[in-house]
Amino acid sequence: MNVMLLGPPGAGKGTQAAHIVALLGIPHISTGDAFRLAIREQSVLGVRAKEFVDQGLLVPDEITIGIVFERCEKEDCAHGFLLDGFPRTIAQAQALDAWLHKRHTQLDHVVQLHVDTDILIERITGRIVCASCGATYHRHFAPTRTAGVCDACGGVVMSRADDAKEKVVVRLQEYEEKTAPLIEYYRERHILRTIDGKRSKEEVAAQLDALFVCSAP
Ligand code: AP5
Ligand code: MG
Ligand code: ZN
Repeated sequence: MNVMLLGPPGAGKGTQAAHIVALLGIPHISTGDAFRLAIREQSVLGVRAKEFVDQGLLVPDEITIGIVFERCEKEDCAHGFLLDGFPRTIAQAQALDAWLHKRHTQLDHVVQLHVDTDILIERITGRIVCASCGATYHRHFAPTRTAGVCDACGGVVMSRADDAKEKVVVRLQEYEEKTAPLIEYYRERHILRTIDGKRSKEEVAAQLDALFVCSAP
């Protein structure tokens, strides 16, 4: 099954991705995680992506599309994948459609996490992530057991560089201008499933369980 998670910054895509991959047994492909890793490794991709990610801007399509398809060609994607944060522009969506069509497959579900802006800002500005394994926490909603230490691996948890308030404003603008039009794009294709992302992590996960149980072959 090929699934895509669509939603603004802070909607809970990464949080629910962990739930969906465990439920469906498909790999998690996050363009944000891929760019952050490349930036940490200072690879050619990382250097090119950094100037955009640091400003809260979308990385240009020609850079982004290539890295996603390279990942989707890997063997573990043979039975499907979960896309988190891709596509984010109409051009990326069209490229994905063409790539899937060529392989005689399609996107089965586009799961839109709907969350109001004031909640998004509260979630993003309180987010802390593990510098070693990438596990995500929140200072108030999902704190680590010991302050500053990752529950999963004992690594150091810290804020993401692009989670500063002024960058969040830019990211939300980018979402509205370039990504929100995808809601209509996928609604017209009858694969948009809208979930109420304002609820607790567990309640959102339960809505996803219901969606995937109902759509099982
Ligand atoms: P990316 O890393 O994808 O960032 P984003 O889209 O801004 O989304 P976030 O990761 O901020 O939020 P999320 O929805 O995953 O929320 P999370 O689960 O962490 O992209 C980063 C950058 O990379 C982009 O700005 C761009 O530069 C570039 N990029 C990436 N993809 C690209 C593309 N396709 N094209 C071009 N450029 C691209 O949750 C947030 C917080 O809330 C956490 O603290 C969590 O614990 C908490 N939380 C989650 N769910 C709940 C809940 N139900 N209740 C309470 N708290 C909750
Ligand atoms: Mg994320
Ligand atoms: Zn960790």
